[in-house]
Amino acid sequence: MSDVFANARQIQAEITAENPENAEQLEAFRIKYLGSKGILKNLMGEMASVPNDRKREYGQLVNAVKQTAEEKFLALREQFEAQASAFDIRTLDLTAPGEPLPIGSRHPVAVTMNRIVDIFSRMGFSVADGPEIEDDWHNFTAMNTPEDHPARDMQDTFYVVDAPGMLLRTHTSPVQARVMENRKPPIRIIAPGRVYRNETISTRSHCQFHQVEGLYIDKGVSFADLKQTLFNFAQEMFGATKIRLRPSFFPFTEPSAEMDIWLGTDTEKNYRLTKGTGWLEILGCGMVDPAVLEMCGIDPTEYSGFAFGMGIERQALRLYEIGDIRLLFENDVRFLRQFSSAI
Ligand code: PHE
Repeated sequence: MSDVFANARQIQAEITAENPENAEQLEAFRIKYLGSKGILKNLMGEMASVPNDRKREYGQLVNAVKQTAEEKFLALREQFEAQASAFDIRTLDLTAPGEPLPIGSRHPVAVTMNRIVDIFSRMGFSVADGPEIEDDWHNFTAMNTPEDHPARDMQDTFYVVDAPGMLLRTHTSPVQARVMENRKPPIRIIAPGRVYRNETISTRSHCQFHQVEGLYIDKGVSFADLKQTLFNFAQEMFGATKIRLRPSFFPFTEPSAEMDIWLGTDTEKNYRLTKGTGWLEILGCGMVDPAVLEMCGIDPTEYSGFAFGMGIERQALRLYEIGDIRLLFENDVRFLRQFSSAI
């Protein structure tokens, strides 16, 4: 009977003496002592041969032995795991080629925007910007859009809740007002950026898109300057050979026009794009209304100017012949990767 106690102590000494050196040996250790047919199970099995008055003492002893084994196992497991994940300079091959890093590509809207900015920069325009959360005055009033103008309707404009007179700008034209307030002519700026409209026509329509605004103010700026500047742009951007200015209306320009470029109808694609007319609408423009100049602190008897504005998404569709505007908003990498060589 006393052999059982001696045996358990002997096992405890053996466990302490064990020295597994790696994860495999540690697993063998676990199976040997703690496994379902392991030594500790056998020790527990001896309980039957222990007299009742010493059963308690024996149970405690076997538990202590078991604890010794478990503690050793857990400590060594932690140690081996840490070693496995540790960086070992001796196994590092400094001559191995580097892992290829995937590089993203610019979004086609950004590429198009950069192109537009680039073309106008070469004509002497510098980039200006303004806030996307705008006040009513800059977005509408200074743009000669009276209180009762339908463009102010809640249908089109996102107003900021609890901030009377604040809204998400519906076009980049408020940047015109901000620049005129702060600078003296000559002014030659373009302002690319995000704009917001509450387009509830379909659930898939997009309430946020991009525009580029242009503004040129100096002494003696005429409609001929507007026409030549925009023709240069159409040539550089689309390789257009002809432009057409159609009379139009914007509250902040007078006279106002819409510019079309000539695509012709000789291919099926151009016929479809131009609905059989050969002309494709590109942008809105006009001579800055004297009332706008005056509201922004510029003397209309001394200065005149022109302005234009265009949606960038539409230009991107044209430039890359993308068939569906939704592709520009879905950010599917299979689509975006196709622009990886664009800058
Ligand atoms: N702001 C106009 C729009 O959003 C575009 C425009 C800008 C027209 C400047 C004329 C002059 O449609």
